[in-house]
Amino acid sequence: MLLRKVLLRGASASRLLISNKSPPASLLPLASGCTRFFSSSSQSEGPNDGFVAGQEGGDEQPPATITVDRSGLYHPPDHSHEPTTESELVKHLKGIIKFRGGPISVAEYMEEVLTNPKFGFYINRDVFGAEGDFITSPEVSQMFGEMIGVWVMCLWEQMGQPKKVNLVELGPGRGTLMADLLRGTAKFKSFTDSMHIHMVECSPVLQKLQHQNLKCEKVGNADENGEKSSVTSITGSPVTWYSSLEQVPSGSPTIILAHEFYDALPIHQFQRSSRGWSEKMVDVGEDSKLRFVLSPQPTPATLYLMKRCKWATEKEVESLKQIEICPKAIDLTHTIAQRISSDGGGALIIDYGLNGVISDSLQAIRKHKFVSILDDPGSADLSAYVDFPSLKHTAEEASDNVAVHGPLTQSQLLGLLGINFRVEALLENCTDEQADSLRTGYWRLVGEGEAPFWEGPDELAPVGMGTRYLAMAIVNKKQGAPVPFQ
Ligand SMILES: C[S@@+](CC[C@H](N)C(=O)[O-])C[C@H]1O[C@@H](n2cnc3c(N)ncnc32)[C@H](O)[C@@H]1O
Repeated sequence: MLLRKVLLRGASASRLLISNKSPPASLLPLASGCTRFFSSSSQSEGPNDGFVAGQEGGDEQPPATITVDRSGLYHPPDHSHEPTTESELVKHLKGIIKFRGGPISVAEYMEEVLTNPKFGFYINRDVFGAEGDFITSPEVSQMFGEMIGVWVMCLWEQMGQPKKVNLVELGPGRGTLMADLLRGTAKFKSFTDSMHIHMVECSPVLQKLQHQNLKCEKVGNADENGEKSSVTSITGSPVTWYSSLEQVPSGSPTIILAHEFYDALPIHQFQRSSRGWSEKMVDVGEDSKLRFVLSPQPTPATLYLMKRCKWATEKEVESLKQIEICPKAIDLTHTIAQRISSDGGGALIIDYGLNGVISDSLQAIRKHKFVSILDDPGSADLSAYVDFPSLKHTAEEASDNVAVHGPLTQSQLLGLLGINFRVEALLENCTDEQADSLRTGYWRLVGEGEAPFWEGPDELAPVGMGTRYLAMAIVNKKQGAPVPFQ
């Protein structure tokens, strides 16, 4: 998201070369509003690191547990009858905490904030681009979707060019990646004829936008729900929408794409305390504001924490004061690996993350600015680094028939797939303005640090996404190693 933020500044949103384009007895309160922003170097050195020491170390040691009197929480003082500016989502979150009689996990908070069917961040609006909250690689340049199209075509070839393939995209945003992939491959008829496109998207607004951007038309007779099938006029391929991967029909070879999908999956946060690892939770404070607390007892997610620690070295775990785990990512990867094992095919997962345990990466971003995680939930994106080793271990444990390759950096992936040739080809036939946009887009996708060619204000300098984003492939072993992971 740091990248998203910086990348967006000074970005041209147009795609110049594409046409139309009962409460627990005791809780350990944490400082409220403890948003941590990414540090590109050491994630274990975040500002939150002070919390544990502040509470449990240092000269003046506070008591190990603080009993919190919550009797006043839900019987607020007199002013409570005054009109409140609380959003419906905040009321809903407080309602869950009240109903439970105790705090909720960060994962539950994140899930409600992002995908609550009524108030979730993604549910009712387009959050991408200059007018939105952040920008992603497919929105930076058409070349991103085109290169992913190269990857899909190569895998399809390795799979023996099957006549029917389920091409699934998880969390397709505006549908830009799929649209560019289809435009880029449209000339290869036998490839596009075999593609059945399945979009897994929880947001009705984004589903509609994807329908538009894929230039879908309704065809055939209506089904029992009165729905007609959709076909993209880019390639004539059928397109269907779902809210989860489990709903996508199985039984045909499958290729799954997940770009910046995993980072939106809810994470649990654990912090070292005097009792060992304690889960960080979201509660309502005596001032009636949301705040972080530590769970006084083990939580169900501790099982996933133990699993994650087993995949790491003792040294790695010992060096951390906080750990993030994502059970939904583990479960999803398990489903993906089993689907690929039984149906054949492969998956490409691209996201920002690390090839190691994630310590403390959760962040909130609104209108391209970092904000506190608990500030006006539902109005800011929440995302966390993806823990690539846990995806690798999960897939390998899920089935002997699949192999995991990578992660490679995005720069390596796109370079090996031929983005240099693509940018040169596009530059041969474009206006000066388009050439500028292409060069900047190319830099953003594969570069690292600030763009050396930039002559504008420092704060608008594009920053490369080439090494912060990683790509991992999970494929059926029958096909061998996928391009370009050999
Ligand atoms: C960060 S955006 C990435 C969009 C797109 N892949 C891109 O790179 O531009 C995350 C996408 O996943 C969708 N999404 C998030 N959580 C989801 C869930 N649990 N089920 C289905 N879709 C989800 C969002 O609505 C959005 O389309």
